Amino acid sequence: MTTSIAPTKQSKSFRSHRGSYWITTFGCQMNKADSERMSGILQTMGYELAEEELKADLVLYNTCTIRDNAEQKVYSYLGRQARRKKSDPNLKIIIAGCLAQQEGETLLRRVPEVDLVMGPQHANRLETLLNQVDNGHQVLATDEQHIYEDITTARRESAICGWVNIIYGCNERCTYCVVPSVRGKEQSRTPQAIKNEIEELARIGYKEITLLGQNIDAYGRDFKSYKFNKSGQLTLSYLLEYIHDIEGIERIRFATSHPRYFTKELIDICAKLPKICEHFHIPVQSGSNKILKNMGRGYTVQSYKEIVNYIKQIMPESSITSDAIVAFPGETRGEFEETLSLIEDVQFDLVNTAAYSPRPNTPAALWPNQLSETVKIDRLREINNLVEKTAKKRNLRYKNSLQEILVESINSKDSSQLLGRTRTNRLTFFPKSSINRESPQPGEIVNIKINEIRPFSLTGSLL
Ligand code: SAH
Ligand code: SF4
Ligand code: F3S
Repeated sequence: MTTSIAPTKQSKSFRSHRGSYWITTFGCQMNKADSERMSGILQTMGYELAEEELKADLVLYNTCTIRDNAEQKVYSYLGRQARRKKSDPNLKIIIAGCLAQQEGETLLRRVPEVDLVMGPQHANRLETLLNQVDNGHQVLATDEQHIYEDITTARRESAICGWVNIIYGCNERCTYCVVPSVRGKEQSRTPQAIKNEIEELARIGYKEITLLGQNIDAYGRDFKSYKFNKSGQLTLSYLLEYIHDIEGIERIRFATSHPRYFTKELIDICAKLPKICEHFHIPVQSGSNKILKNMGRGYTVQSYKEIVNYIKQIMPESSITSDAIVAFPGETRGEFEETLSLIEDVQFDLVNTAAYSPRPNTPAALWPNQLSETVKIDRLREINNLVEKTAKKRNLRYKNSLQEILVESINSKDSSQLLGRTRTNRLTFFPKSSINRESPQPGEIVNIKINEIRPFSLTGSLL
């Protein structure tokens, strides 16, 4: 998925005008959050948002390398800018994010027009690095960093829902995954820094926050000096209680949960705290114990189901979403079918699926039992059909129900409609006006009667 930062109405504290910039973001929410911070840094430095990518004086690609196709896309974007630089030598080209970290110097050799290659741990250092570029250097910033707090104001895409990083990096070693090698070791932010950021968001009108981490359940375990909960450890459960009561924030979400570390204590806290939304994104990856073991995930299908069942028992309204990889090395037809059965059993609201893609510096990429492209394509198609069917079936429960929707914006594809989400994170559309009330504003929570369901979204009308 790619997104581009669009203009928002946030306060600007420009220094002198430095030219225009454009950021294109690939990959996950972590990258989106990094882009919003880098955008804020560029604005503080005096850059203004360009009207279009091909007219910008500075172009920044915040890249992803989770699968091979994500990587190929960046190279095609880069080629276009490299050609442009031949006629416009002042153009600055920056590659940030996970592919930048992975490829490092290779990128500079492959595309010598690039001015700056910077890994994700360097996002908050963009100004320092750009100053080096302005002094005539081609800069490579991929060394391991302690991540300092960003002292500028992030320029966020939404004025209602904000991402808040709570832990960077990942210490797991899933055998297919490139993230630990590109995002480095876990680094938690302090509860106070997180609270300050959320209080500031609340002050300027944000209503919803999503706490972010690749393995959010690991929050706090790198802090030895914090002694907060009963067992003397700083945990996600503690953090949720610590930030819960910030006035103005109506909804709290978090992602991504790891089934190995997801605790009953956390589920109890979510049930107790009213602002925490009933949506849990818990990637399962496979429905086969053998494959889970080979993936190095550290849980079984049974222990996964226990978590899900406990959530359903305590919060029956909850939506549960997941990620799954098909055609992992050595996956038999039977093991693939175990994943399909798990999806039927759990009745996930949504599953993000992908065919296994071998990644650099990961163990599974070197195993000899890789599956063919044909098997990958077939299994992916099959699982996607099931996911769509299950999602639609799950959505039946919304039909004719009343849902609390936090209004986010006008529907860009139909300006007579507004869009927002249920607490369970289902995208919901509804007409702006009704006979007996004025159009609600973004940020308002409204009651919507759902009258139309599709696999991945709902439509309703204002009550
Ligand atoms: N931290 C999260 C997910 C991170 S990556 C977790 O632990 O689950 C997001 C998703 O990309 C993963 O859940 C996985 O389904 C998918 N993914 C990661 N590496 C992959 C690979 N090599 N091939 C295919 N899909 C992959
Ligand atoms: Fe990758 Fe595993 Fe870490 Fe998730 S927990 S980011 S899948 S290594
Ligand atoms: Fe991609 Fe990096 Fe996120 S590899 S999925 S952008 S952590």
